[in-house]
Amino acid sequence: MAKDSLSVTDNRTGKQYEMPIENGCVKAIDFRKIKTSDQDFGLMSYDPAFLNTANCKSAITFIDGDAGILEYRGYPIDQLAEKSTHLEVSYLVMNGELPNKAQLEEFTTKITHHTYVHENIKSFMDGFRYDAHPMSMLASTVAGLSSFYPEAKNVKNREVRRAQMMRLIAKMPTLAAFSYRHSQGLPYVYPNNDLGYTENFLTMVKSIGKPNWRPHPALVKALDLLFILHADHEQNCSTTATRVVGSSEVDPYSAVAAGITALYGPLHGGANEAVLRMLREIGDVKNVPEFITRVKGGDGTKLMGFGHRVYKNYDPRAKVIKKACEEVFEVTGKNPALEIAVELERIALQDEYFVKRKLYPNVDFYSGLIYEAMGFSADFFTNLFAIPRTVGWVSQWEEMITDDEQKIARPRQVFTGKRKRDYLPIDKR
Ligand code: SDX
Repeated sequence: MAKDSLSVTDNRTGKQYEMPIENGCVKAIDFRKIKTSDQDFGLMSYDPAFLNTANCKSAITFIDGDAGILEYRGYPIDQLAEKSTHLEVSYLVMNGELPNKAQLEEFTTKITHHTYVHENIKSFMDGFRYDAHPMSMLASTVAGLSSFYPEAKNVKNREVRRAQMMRLIAKMPTLAAFSYRHSQGLPYVYPNNDLGYTENFLTMVKSIGKPNWRPHPALVKALDLLFILHADHEQNCSTTATRVVGSSEVDPYSAVAAGITALYGPLHGGANEAVLRMLREIGDVKNVPEFITRVKGGDGTKLMGFGHRVYKNYDPRAKVIKKACEEVFEVTGKNPALEIAVELERIALQDEYFVKRKLYPNVDFYSGLIYEAMGFSADFFTNLFAIPRTVGWVSQWEEMITDDEQKIARPRQVFTGKRKRDYLPIDKR
């Protein structure tokens, strides 16, 4: 029976080492025993951007990038998208099991009763310029929330932890809605406890002058579906940021604020905004071939919404979103940019440049089309990503806090700078 280990020969010394293989990994710390002398620090692994490094064990989300598989706690994303709701999926992501009726009712009631934010938050938001980017407002305000809940620093206490996790899930839609209203110069609309999570959010964003106005049920359903698809995605950039910052045992508001700022980047959650700007720049289907040529020409232009670090196949979420487009457009009218997106996809999926690099549409390629059709401005799209991802961030954060193998994140480096130089007086430089 083959042993689960690596037999390594250090050709510098001729020494041989056995390195155990566990979960398809070799522990990086095991390389440290490979030395050229007793004074040698030992070998490290060098892995910029963690392309091939597992930084944790997690039971929350499983992705098979080659097969295009995504499961939350073992449940396939397409089944959850078809049969569940964002709050039910949030319970699943947080607790590991689908809730029964009583558990879902209790969870929903708790979330509903934490949607309000302290009145001071309004004056905090009012301090931003009228044209402040909603993601900048969201990240800052979430970081500021930690000052309202000083007990949140007690991250080792499960009851305290869970209370903050529920607050973050409950308040993120309110904060996002407030940031939208601020950017539109509109008065804030307070949460309404009689409404569901997603309906309440859309009402806080869109209600103007009609206290009983309610969003179209088809749009509520479509946005709730998008929330399900964005809930978690294992160790993506923003979740890694949340875990790393959280590893210093700071409160979860500060750790999640780090996740929000990471998501803001155009290579991550900011891609949905960048896709719409790209489609606007292309302007017409007839300009697609020229744009594709530009992308392939290597001038740094990227086909935003395409490619993924893990998926080397069609992102399963993109398939579901593309289908949801049709349902939304029946209500809102077709988004003309869809025609450009479909032509971009058609050409890219058969073009050697993209095929060779395994570049397929990701979650951001079609989501912006739905958001725009719902009347959201492009700079608000990433806030719509941050709302549902909150449950992923807080669940991954709690998994890190309760993992005995984890400690404060502090990587090593390969030093490439100058050493041991004597100070030179300024007149000698
Ligand atoms: C999200 O990680 C997650 O799980 C994220 C996410 C989540 O749910 O949390 O799924 C959400 O962030 C989706 C990704 C959204 N970003 C974009 O759509 C931006 C465009 N995509 C790229 O920037 C890129 O594909 C990344 C950032 C998504 C992945 O980049 P990688 O894994 O670092 O791959 P790479 O940049 O090394 O690309 C490999 C090759 C390069 O070409 P060569 O140097 O080999 O010639 O593919 C090229 C890249 O230039 N390439 C692209 C491209 N993406 C990669 N070329 C054109 N257009 C693109 N979109």
